[in-house]
Amino acid sequence: PTPWLVVPAAGQGKRMGADRPKQYLDLAGEPLLRHTLRRLHAAFPEARCVICLDDDDRWFRNAWMPFAHWQRVSGGAERMDSVLNGLHAMAADANDPVLVHDVARPCVMPNDLQALYQATLESASGALLAMPVADTMKRDNGDGASFRTECRDGLWHALTPQGFRHGLLLRALTQAQRSGALVTDEASAIEALGLAPRLVSARRDNIKVTHPGDLGLAAAILSAQAG
Ligand code: C5P
Repeated sequence: PTPWLVVPAAGQGKRMGADRPKQYLDLAGEPLLRHTLRRLHAAFPEARCVICLDDDDRWFRNAWMPFAHWQRVSGGAERMDSVLNGLHAMAADANDPVLVHDVARPCVMPNDLQALYQATLESASGALLAMPVADTMKRDNGDGASFRTECRDGLWHALTPQGFRHGLLLRALTQAQRSGALVTDEASAIEALGLAPRLVSARRDNIKVTHPGDLGLAAAILSAQAG
């Protein structure tokens, strides 16, 4: 089968401090979003893609979309709202696999995309790309000083894509939206249902471009991956 893809791309990217949303900043000579879409397309050429864009977005160009079957939906107030808009708009069956991938992760590699998709098909609770925490974790005291060291055993960074059956993800995010919980990824909404999405070990270079220095880092990663 081939998955549905939801690409939330309706954020403002305020932490970048740039004149436009980060997905339109130049990365290795092209808008960042083109790299992300191309990686997804290379792995899943037949996929149907739903991209969530702000209604006021004046940067997006249809010609940048590599998928034959795609649609644009309006973004929402939070990332979760954007993804929910996508899930509502797509003509999917409850059992169809849906992969959600942040537009801000242009360095995701084909092997990780395939591994995540495989796990999505196998796991009743879905799956997410993730990597074990390597650094020592500190809790601050609210005043810029280290107050406590958190045990990092069993702690993971949650990345994207994250994959679930359409019906399950729709139910989880609808419930999360009603509950008003702060949900920053799909897996946390699934966990709130008492389910345990599978953690799929990911490469460390699948970074989320968030802060200004991350663009240079992403460019170096892309060039290293190509070499
Ligand atoms: O801001 P952050 O990097 O956490 O956003 C993660 C992803 O969610 C980005 O791809 C961003 O464009 C998207 N997003 C969205 N709708 C929002 C907020 C963020 O689609 N309201």
